[in-house]
Amino acid sequence: MRTNRHGWARVLLGAALAVGLAGLAQAADSGAAYGAHWKSWQARADVSDLPSLQRGARDFVGYCLGCHSLRYERWSRLGKDLKIPPAMLVKDLIPPGQKPQDYMISPMTADAEKWFGKPPPDLSLIARYRGTNYLYRYLKTFYVDSQRPTGVNNLVFPSVAMPDVLSSLEGLKIAVYRTVEVPGPHGSTLKRQVFEHFKQIAPGSMTPQQFDRFVHDTVNFLDYVGDPQRVERHRVGVWVILFLILFTWLAWLLYREYWKDVR
Ligand code: HEC
Repeated sequence: MRTNRHGWARVLLGAALAVGLAGLAQAADSGAAYGAHWKSWQARADVSDLPSLQRGARDFVGYCLGCHSLRYERWSRLGKDLKIPPAMLVKDLIPPGQKPQDYMISPMTADAEKWFGKPPPDLSLIARYRGTNYLYRYLKTFYVDSQRPTGVNNLVFPSVAMPDVLSSLEGLKIAVYRTVEVPGPHGSTLKRQVFEHFKQIAPGSMTPQQFDRFVHDTVNFLDYVGDPQRVERHRVGVWVILFLILFTWLAWLLYREYWKDVR
């Protein structure tokens, strides 16, 4: 009995500690020094959240279309799927010179490759290729690095050629590293730099919560673009199931009718 009670006490203590540590980890990721747990950040994408997709579309046009195209998505389809009225589509989203039936092509010229060293890729299928958590972490782990031609680097994509286009919203942050010693060959020790956390050095126009929502919306939008049929498919799926149930019932009635006289 005694040992049992101690056992429970230990379990409870362990659970309390775990909860406390998780809370600390969360707090650490939301304070001035944060990002230690960036590898487990989740995008929580949800393509059924229409207002989020609409904001994501607006943000994509404002901050990404300058360099990136979505060559499998037409403006008209975007308007229809995301319930954006045609007048608003033309006035607020479609760049001058493009029509609603055109694909969402960046006005950027072919010189881009020369400017960045790498061409900005088409992002139509990037959410399917990389996954939403990758995109979310990518957009949130740019940091100042004077060694790079763009002045920034990225934890998810080291030495990335894309500039930190969201720094005016997010502000600037630096990466703080810790030196650890690891065993090397022949009993020697090697020093290695390990990322510890980010430190905000200049504020942006958004609070961390607003910026987080901005990135969430952008990733959500790219997830929709990667498979625009999905929203439609879910809706149609319900009708297909209802039809199958109805059809089975009719077939059963018919079967009963045919065999009535035989038995
Ligand atoms: C000033 C031009 C420019 C703007 C604006 C821009 N990007 Fe990029 N982006 C690039 C370049 C250049 C690359 C190629 C990076 C490389 O291969 O090193 C890139 C690459 C990417 C990638 C691919 C990463 C990978 O792992 O393959 C994603 C995703 C991306 N950008 C998302 C965005 C989003 C979302 C926005 C808007 C918030 C945006 N970009 C705005 C220039 C830009």
